[in-house]
Amino acid sequence: MFYVLGIESSCDELACAVVANGVDILSNVIYTQHAPQFGGVVPELAARHHVDHLIPVVEETLARASLPLDAIELIAVTQGPGLIGSLLVGIAFAEGLALALNKPLIGVNHVEAHLYGTFLAQKEPIPLPALGCILSGGHTLLVKVKEIGQYTPIGTTVDDAIGEAFDKVAAWLGLPYPGGPWVERLARQGNPMRFSLKPGRVKERPHHFSFSGLKTNVLYLAKGQNAKKRDAVMLSEEEKCDLCASFQEVILRDVLEKAEGAAKRYGCRSFVLGGGVSCNQRLQELFRESFLPAFFPSRELALDNAAMIAGLGYILKCGEAVH
Ligand code: KG4
Ligand code: ZN
Repeated sequence: MFYVLGIESSCDELACAVVANGVDILSNVIYTQHAPQFGGVVPELAARHHVDHLIPVVEETLARASLPLDAIELIAVTQGPGLIGSLLVGIAFAEGLALALNKPLIGVNHVEAHLYGTFLAQKEPIPLPALGCILSGGHTLLVKVKEIGQYTPIGTTVDDAIGEAFDKVAAWLGLPYPGGPWVERLARQGNPMRFSLKPGRVKERPHHFSFSGLKTNVLYLAKGQNAKKRDAVMLSEEEKCDLCASFQEVILRDVLEKAEGAAKRYGCRSFVLGGGVSCNQRLQELFRESFLPAFFPSRELALDNAAMIAGLGYILKCGEAVH
């Protein structure tokens, strides 16, 4: 068994995991300290939180895997993208640990790891090439995956990330952070046809996304034409649910349609979704009705975690995963 210790500290989640041979998750610890009173992530607080909790989180991870520290063969750490202060805490710790144990260290890209999180969760092989859709709080990316490590970028957002759009809409409706799961919850009771909203188009770039116009429309529907973000919501509870349902439907169909267009154009044989927004059940329903098989990560591998970092670290260092 080749044990990899993964460390993820790019945002407000602090996570550590042990993965064997790139696929078997022995432990996957996620320690979150959202700052709900600030309605989002405060970079300085997140970094300080990681400094205080990193050692106990690593100890807990090893204990849950029932492994001593010296059984670890490789340390994998998120090297970016992310908040610089938060990243530095994880990287500095990982470098120190690798030096002390005299074991190799590998830096892993967080966005690529989100995609690997879905490969890690599958029992059957995923047909390749796949159209990877990374939908998170920080990223919105369509990419052709020839195999792990070989990608062709196809589309991205020109403004907000999709999870960010969910979080902002939720905040304007007075819902807690992170807002995606709350919007989904309200949407379940709402009528998606109630409000007519349009997805954003990016001129001459059919696979790119733009969410800012859609977001502004939602703001005006919630608070009145030309309202400011801090103005009061003018909707009944029922109308809030209808607005969540209308927003969710239009944004998720936008993802589906652009993913379908990209998959056709680039000859993909499956959809692989990753990142926090891929937990959304309506999104999963829409993709399951599409013309290619769609693969999703489990919830714990969709949100920020270190199993995806350890798993991808193994693949990058040692080649294919051993099942
Ligand atoms: O992948 P992730 O944990 O962190 C980043 O790398 O950004 O994604 C977090 C994002 C948040 O914006 C959150 O609101 C969104 O994923 N999210 C959802 C759902 N669950 C989490 N968005 C829509 N529907 C959900 N069920
Ligand atoms: Zn992430």
